[in-house]
Amino acid sequence: MSKLRIAVQKSGRLNDDSMRILKDIGISIDNGIDQLKASARNFPVEVFYLRNGDIPQYLKDGVVDAAIIGENVLIEKGNDINVVEKLGFSSCRVCIAVPKTTEYGSIKDLEGKRIATSYPNTVEMYLKKNGVNANLHIINGSVEIAPNIGLADAICDIVSSGSTLFKNNLKEVETILTSEAVLAVSPKLTDEKQAILDTIQFRIKSVLKGRD
Ligand code: PRP
Ligand code: MG
Repeated sequence: MSKLRIAVQKSGRLNDDSMRILKDIGISIDNGIDQLKASARNFPVEVFYLRNGDIPQYLKDGVVDAAIIGENVLIEKGNDINVVEKLGFSSCRVCIAVPKTTEYGSIKDLEGKRIATSYPNTVEMYLKKNGVNANLHIINGSVEIAPNIGLADAICDIVSSGSTLFKNNLKEVETILTSEAVLAVSPKLTDEKQAILDTIQFRIKSVLKGRD
């Protein structure tokens, strides 16, 4: 019997809660995170520990069948991927922020400005919708430092508690979208694997209900 391949974030904010929900639905994973792949002892499931940003492409290609991933990452990279369940953890928002000292009236103020971000497609979509042209600098982490080192006039990144913005003397001026962890499914899922997924989804629903 084939196994359902589920991707989870290798390390980072989603990992703990992702492993917890798998455990709560009765999927026990044998080996730890040192392995990039682990089999469930009692269920036809394999867990793959992957980098967040790589997961949408793996889903598209059908290399993995399902994933626990932040909706924001799917919006940035995976527009044809199905979300089948919202998981109620890792909520955040994707925001534009500027230095506290910057006078800001509206998104139009960003015309011609430099924006540092790890979410270029998301920002581009938002700017386009508002008829604004700006220069994007794509960086993969520590985005909030960019205005302080003179690399950008604004940033776009995820905000959760707001403490990273605060520590870097930035203020949130636009909220592009809100996000949470979701169960996402490959468009290439086979019928056989769909049956395994149905069981998992059913169990997830009961666990989430119990948590309310
Ligand atoms: C993430 C994100 C923000 C911060 C938001 O960064 O990129 O910088 O968390 O969380 P907060 O609002 O609770 O401060 P992370 O710490 O994962 O590091 P990275 O950006 O360098 O990958
Ligand atoms: Mg960061």
